[in-house]
Amino acid sequence: MTKYVLITGATSGIGLALIEPLKTAGFAPILTGRNAEKTAKLAARHGIDGYTLDVADPDAIQRVTQQITDDLGPLHCLINNAGIWLEGDFDTYADSDIKAVMDTNTMGTINMTHAVLPEMLERGNGTVINVVSTGALYTRKSISVYAASKWAIRGFTGCLENECAPKGVRVMGFYPGKIASNMYKTAGVERDLSVAMTPATAAKMLVTMLADETMVWSQVSGRALKDYV
Ligand SMILES: NC(=O)c1ccc[n+]([C@@H]2O[C@H](COP(=O)([O-])OP(=O)(O)OC[C@H]3O[C@@H](n4cnc5c(N)ncnc54)[C@H](OP(=O)(O)O)[C@@H]3O)[C@@H](O)[C@H]2O)c1
Repeated sequence: MTKYVLITGATSGIGLALIEPLKTAGFAPILTGRNAEKTAKLAARHGIDGYTLDVADPDAIQRVTQQITDDLGPLHCLINNAGIWLEGDFDTYADSDIKAVMDTNTMGTINMTHAVLPEMLERGNGTVINVVSTGALYTRKSISVYAASKWAIRGFTGCLENECAPKGVRVMGFYPGKIASNMYKTAGVERDLSVAMTPATAAKMLVTMLADETMVWSQVSGRALKDYV
């Protein structure tokens, strides 16, 4: 049976870096992204299935996950990777920015999982990997809402890990430190990414987590050595 792996936010960074290593490891990645043009172009370039999917839109999640399972069949794995950054003092945030971060990072992950988990539980097999962040392991100034969005997912992931493992379904969290992706630039924030982990390294860790089905890799974290400054 084809091992389909649905990746959210796969038009950039970690999500995009996952495509080729997943193929090499024998999986069939499904590239999803919020930008229809980018999604179609990248899916064609990698010769894989692609679907436009904005995880901040609960109706789109219902519609597109149904379409994917109608077209391809059951999912082997869901990787909740889509996410956005927000930085600055809390009192300066616009309501719309707060909503976008929570809708994408938190509700996007919860709603995607809610859409695909019942079928995995029924089958007694499947994997959900949530890309969280070291931002969910500690607190610091200037990232209050991003941290809130990821701390929520840390709790969600840990609870589901315990709930689903006895039923044969693995729910795992990946907690990377700084990664040299587009995330900060998209949020209009300057960052020295010369000290960061590459998206390719993050992807390698995720493929390791997915590949050994006898293991539940609980709270897997990692930082680039040169990021210890
Ligand atoms: N970069 C870091 O330092 C770092 C550290 C720890 C954890 N993370 C987490 O890693 C994950 C991936 O981020 P990245 O570093 O690879 O950043 P990235 O290069 O900016 O990639 C983020 C991806 O998410 C997509 N996306 C954003 N909002 C979306 C939505 N509503 N629906 C669907 N897709 C959406 C983006 O689409 P577009 O291409 O259209 O923008 C992009 O494909 C995120 O969850 C992030 O929080 C990142």
